[in-house]
Amino acid sequence: MNKVLSLIRSAVNSIRLLLDGPRESILPRKFYIDDSIFELEKKRIFNKLWLFIGLTNELPVSGCWIIKKVIHKEILIIRDGDTYHAHENVCPHKNMRLRSEKSGKGPLVCRYHAWSFKPDGSLAKIPDFDKSYMLTDRQLERACLTSFHIKKIGNFLFVCMDPKPISIETQFDAKIIRSLKLLSHRLTPEFGCFFETRGFNWKLNFENLRDALHPAVLHASTLAKEVDFSAQYVQLKPLQQALRRLDLVEASSLSKDGEHKTEKRGHLINLIDPSFGEGYYNWLLFPNFHMATPDGGRSYSIEVHNPLSPSQTEVSHFVIFSKPNNLDDVFLDEIVEHRLRGLRPVMGEDYEACEEIQVALQHTNREQNIGAYEHYNINIATMYRRLIGR
Ligand code: FES
Ligand SMILES: [Fe+2]
Repeated sequence: MNKVLSLIRSAVNSIRLLLDGPRESILPRKFYIDDSIFELEKKRIFNKLWLFIGLTNELPVSGCWIIKKVIHKEILIIRDGDTYHAHENVCPHKNMRLRSEKSGKGPLVCRYHAWSFKPDGSLAKIPDFDKSYMLTDRQLERACLTSFHIKKIGNFLFVCMDPKPISIETQFDAKIIRSLKLLSHRLTPEFGCFFETRGFNWKLNFENLRDALHPAVLHASTLAKEVDFSAQYVQLKPLQQALRRLDLVEASSLSKDGEHKTEKRGHLINLIDPSFGEGYYNWLLFPNFHMATPDGGRSYSIEVHNPLSPSQTEVSHFVIFSKPNNLDDVFLDEIVEHRLRGLRPVMGEDYEACEEIQVALQHTNREQNIGAYEHYNINIATMYRRLIGR
């Protein structure tokens, strides 16, 4: 029965695509500014799918925990030996925030009435239980943390808040999962990170990242000096322009998007061996994870976009590295610093462009007027509309 329904749905979708004719915008303007769309995204994307939540590098020893956010919900990630758990950061007694620091180590004890919890989220102890609480069995059943599914792929941790999650392989294909595992083997434990809140809709930067023609122009004085993106200007074959129904798994990609300019090779070239062939690679994982290596896998930058409202996005940035040929801690700190500083101008150019679009979107009546080279963005947007039911 389900199969028949899905066939009918797919046929209706294909007819709709045909009737729509050539697409002139990725998404209508309201999808970037409307609160009701944001609510649907929250419910049907961010509370349903697997989301990158952090790196194991952030939890170096057993008993460590960190707090992350999905939209406005705080998630507590705790390491117990080699097992990782994810819980809502809310005490099941009177809904106190369980931890208010960003990270820490040690037992999970609420600072309001000292209920304590085991790493798996179950109740450890209620002080004065017999004297003062007299909880019923039903209440005791509810005296544990709300837990979420968590998966570790190499150094990458993913969380799914749906009680019945889809398999992670339905969301990310085998090639992507394998690449994350493979590159993790060579990573150093050191990492750098910073956070910022920017004034654009979370989707805008991902559309920008899939816009193959922007780097040579927007990044002409930064990234494009080191990486040659000219291969992106290929003549599109008719088949590539076809609008088609994407499965969720096709909305995430791993691609090689540029070649190093030989006279401008990065500073890590002689210090660290590449994990992939030389070149600029991008991992774009639907919905909100982007990782790039400009140097064949010597160093990686990660950006995760957490939407706070239709026009505000909290961005977490990480930089990670493959092990240098000569390991030296002081030297690694310098590399982390250098790479974090190097990221700023390129990200700044992208984010400023997205912010300027966002400002215009609030006031203009115009819709986009895009070209066929954005077929991937269009196909992903169609799949996204299916997900949120709009
Ligand atoms: S609210 Fe946490 S122990 Fe009371
Ligand atoms: Fe860019």
